[in-house]
Amino acid sequence: MQHPRPTPKRRADICVVGAGYVGLTAAACFAALGHRVRCVEHDEDRLATLRRGESPIYEPGLDALIEEGMSSGRLSFTGAIDDAVPDADVAFLCVGTPPRADGHPDLRQLAAAAGQVAAAATGDLVVAVKSTVPPGTCEAMQLLSEEAAGPGVRISVASNPEFLRESQAVSDFFHPDRVVVGADDEATGSSVASLYPSEWPMLRCDRRSSELIKYASNTFLAVKISFANEVAGLCEHVGADAASVLAGVGMDQRIGPSFLGHGPGFGGSCLTKDVSGLVATGAALGFSTPVAQAALDINTWARGRVVDQLATSLGSLAGTRIAVLGLAFKPGTDDVRDSPAVTIVERLLARGASVSTFDPVADPAAIRHLKQPDAYRAVSDADAVVIATAWPEFALLDVVRLHSAMRGRVVVDTVGVLDPAAAARVGLDVIIPGRSTPDTFHPVVVSPLEWALDAVLA
Ligand SMILES: NC(=O)c1ccc[n+]([C@@H]2O[C@H](COP(=O)([O-])OP(=O)(O)OC[C@H]3O[C@@H](n4cnc5c(N)ncnc54)[C@H](O)[C@@H]3O)[C@@H](O)[C@H]2O)c1
Repeated sequence: MQHPRPTPKRRADICVVGAGYVGLTAAACFAALGHRVRCVEHDEDRLATLRRGESPIYEPGLDALIEEGMSSGRLSFTGAIDDAVPDADVAFLCVGTPPRADGHPDLRQLAAAAGQVAAAATGDLVVAVKSTVPPGTCEAMQLLSEEAAGPGVRISVASNPEFLRESQAVSDFFHPDRVVVGADDEATGSSVASLYPSEWPMLRCDRRSSELIKYASNTFLAVKISFANEVAGLCEHVGADAASVLAGVGMDQRIGPSFLGHGPGFGGSCLTKDVSGLVATGAALGFSTPVAQAALDINTWARGRVVDQLATSLGSLAGTRIAVLGLAFKPGTDDVRDSPAVTIVERLLARGASVSTFDPVADPAAIRHLKQPDAYRAVSDADAVVIATAWPEFALLDVVRLHSAMRGRVVVDTVGVLDPAAAARVGLDVIIPGRSTPDTFHPVVVSPLEWALDAVLA
């Protein structure tokens, strides 16, 4: 899909450090906007793939943009920071900030990149941090950069958090809900803001606020998902259907339907990490964030619930054969970082089940030996199937073939892709978390009856 290419306020030489989901997308998209972009990647395999004009990650539309950028001469890749920094007006840091055990992010990649960029700068340079970081990090990077920079070189660090969603990263870049630029002086902020088209929604603020916008946004999204899962759990107890309940809740314009789906919980490289980062930031300052903490707790419960429901249904998991369809943390990506599907596989193995898996794209090295070439081979002889990622192709599975390939008949559809009526017709026993069959003599009916009759009986 060709996205509109509005003109940025100015064309510039840009250096992007880190060619992961964020850096590579930013590099290719900035080049498409007309900037000259040099992207630095220190992983040699990744760099070799990029230099062949291929994308090392699965992200729709990215290959075409890389090819376009390279053939126009506006996009190039290097392993040497010295090749990219001296000509740059702005250097974007897009390196990983993975979680530490204490909830704070590991900022060592960022500190290394900031130091390398500052040391390579031959003139004044604006450094924009796209990596997700706790408030105060840009100011810390400012101090580190000043230390590393050569004499007479002035480094100004800005915050420019990234909000793209994997699987629609290119589209998100060209259609942002907002671009946030945090800087503590006007010139630095303008230098970053002017790289974007003026018609895109822009929020300018100070660095700490900008950093916190990213943490707070991801935390709110996580809270929405966890709230949906909490409601889904209540639906099971009440005898209601979470899909209908949440659809009805989401139709309220003040709430909205996005991130209000129930399932095996949130995952990916960002949400758990960033919510944990927000909680840890508050805790370190003596401020508690119980809403954010609850989002994490419910998420842990949502992942475990899938395995518990399966165990209840089969009696025991030990010695069973379970097929898990889907490994990516969501459809449309090959990313398996903190994927609920992978957690489900690990927990099934830990409880004595043998597991076979299939995912159309994701191929995590640690469980590659469990992967089958297609969904039907994965479910062959399975006592039960768990659908853990909402890939559209799983909605098209032939339920007759599914049923005849399996040994058992239980299917836990955690993401609601199957047609439960069609599956039931061929004899499959479909469990949909968040949905239970109402029975008449249930406490939810009996209690209101008692309350209603209180006055009469009194
Ligand atoms: N993935 C997302 O959906 C997403 C969305 C918004 C924000 N973020 C944030 O953006 C940051 C990057 O995320 P990502 O998913 O792109 O990470 P990633 O791990 O996919 O990519 C980081 C890349 O940087 C490279 N790198 C690290 N240090 C380097 C250095 N000194 N020189 C050259 N290359 C270096 C790594 O080899 C890797 O290829 C993180 O802070 C993340 O939280 C991610």
